[in-house]
Amino acid sequence: MLLITGGAGFIGANFILDSIVQTGEAVVNLDKLTYAGNPRNLEALRGDTRHLLVHGDINDRALVRRLLTDHQPRAVVHFAAESHVDRSIHGPAEFVQTNVVGTFSLLEETRGWWGGLSESARRDFRFLHVSTDEVYGSLGPNDAAFCESTPYAPNSPYSASKASSDHLVRAYQHTYGLPTLTTNCSNNYGPFQFPEKLIPLIIHNALAGKPLPVYGDGTNVRDWLYVGDHCTAIREVLRKGRVGETYNVGGGSEMKNIDVVTTVCHLLDEARPRSSGSYTSLITFVEDRPGHDRRYAIDASKIHSELGWVPRQSFQMGLAKTVDWYLDHPDWVQDVVTGAYRSWVSQNYLGRSAA
Ligand code: NAD
Ligand code: DAU
Repeated sequence: MLLITGGAGFIGANFILDSIVQTGEAVVNLDKLTYAGNPRNLEALRGDTRHLLVHGDINDRALVRRLLTDHQPRAVVHFAAESHVDRSIHGPAEFVQTNVVGTFSLLEETRGWWGGLSESARRDFRFLHVSTDEVYGSLGPNDAAFCESTPYAPNSPYSASKASSDHLVRAYQHTYGLPTLTTNCSNNYGPFQFPEKLIPLIIHNALAGKPLPVYGDGTNVRDWLYVGDHCTAIREVLRKGRVGETYNVGGGSEMKNIDVVTTVCHLLDEARPRSSGSYTSLITFVEDRPGHDRRYAIDASKIHSELGWVPRQSFQMGLAKTVDWYLDHPDWVQDVVTGAYRSWVSQNYLGRSAA
C-alpha cells in the first residue's frame, strides 16, 4: 500500500482517485484538512476499504510512526504542503512549519522505520517528494527552460520553503541512503483546485459577475499541466525513477496570464453566455504580487527519455474539461467558498490598487 500525505488537497486527491482506478492499490491518506484539504474531493471513494483518510499533521511524529508501523507502506508519496504563493507572502510561518519542519519530521520518522526493515524491503521502498518548478526562480524571455541541473533560486517564502524541503530530501538519500525521488512540476489545473489559484478563481469570479484580477500587466508566463498528466508522471517516477534523482514535469504549454484569463472567458462565453457582452469585460489589472516571478518553463526531456512520460492533454482540451467540471459542480465550489475563503479574498485583494 501507499502512504500519501496531503491527499485531500487538489493534486493529492486527483492522484488517489486515479491511482485506485488504475492500480487498485490501497492508500492511507494523512491530511491535516487545512482550508485546502477537503474530504469531499474523495467522496467517490466513500465506503471503499482501499482508502483510509487519517486526519492529522505530518508534524505529529507519533502518528506518522504509528501509520508506518501499522501499514508497512511500500512508498510514501508526499504532497502535503502549504501551496499558495500569495498566502506565503501574507503569512510565511505556516509554510516553514509544514513545508520545511513537516517534511523533516516525515523524513526522520520514515528513516527510523525504514532502517528496521529487511534489506530487500529497504531496497524496494521509495519516498517520493512532490515539489515545484518555482524552486528554480524566474526566467527571462529568452532563457532556456528549467532543467534538473538549473541552480536553485527561490524567490517567495513558498518557493524557499519547498526548496528547503527538496534539499532535505536530497540529503536523506545522500547521507542515510533513504531511497528518495523528487518531482519538480509546473502549474497544475483541473478538477478540485481551490479557487484561490488563478484558473478556478477566474471561473468563480466570472460566474459571480465579479472583477477578474490580473496581477501587474498580465504578461507573466507560466507553464500549464493538466493535473491528470501530473499524476501519471508521479506514478511513472515511482515505478521506474532512479533512486536519488529529480525529474522535472511540465506541460510544454507556456502562456501569458492574460491569455489564460482570456481563454477561460471565451470558454465561459460559449458555455454560459452573459446577458450582454463577454466575460472579458470583467478583466481588471491590479497591483502586482510582490517579487512576482516573470516566467517559468520546464525542460521535461529527462522524464521523457528515461521514463517515456509525455503529457497527453493539450492546454485547450484540458482547460475546456476544467471549465466544464466547475460548471457541473457548483455545490463543490459553494462548499469551499466559506467565511474563511471570503476573509482571504478581502485580505489579498482589497488592499491592491488598480495597476
Ligand atoms: P493544496 O494546497 O491543494 O493541498 C495541500 C494538502 O496538504 C491539503 O489537503 C492540506 O490539508 C494538506 N496539508 C497541509 N498542511 C499539512 C500538514 N501539516 N499535515 C498534513 N497535511 C497537510 O496543494 P496542491 O496544489 O494539491 O499541491 C500538492 C503538492 O504539489 C504541494 O507539495 C505543492 O507544493 C506541489 N505542487 C503543486 C503545484 C500546483 O500547481 N498546484 C505544482 C507543482 C507542485
Ligand atoms: O509553478 C508551480 C506552482 O504553481 C505551484 O508550486 C504552486 O503551488 C501553485 O500555486 C502555482 O503557483 P503560481 O503562483 O504560479 O499560481 P497562481 O495560480 O497563484 O498564479 C498563477 C499566475 O497568475 C501567477 O503569475 C500569478 C497570477 N495571478 C494569480 C492570482 C491568484 C493573477 O494574475 N491574479 C490572481 O488573482
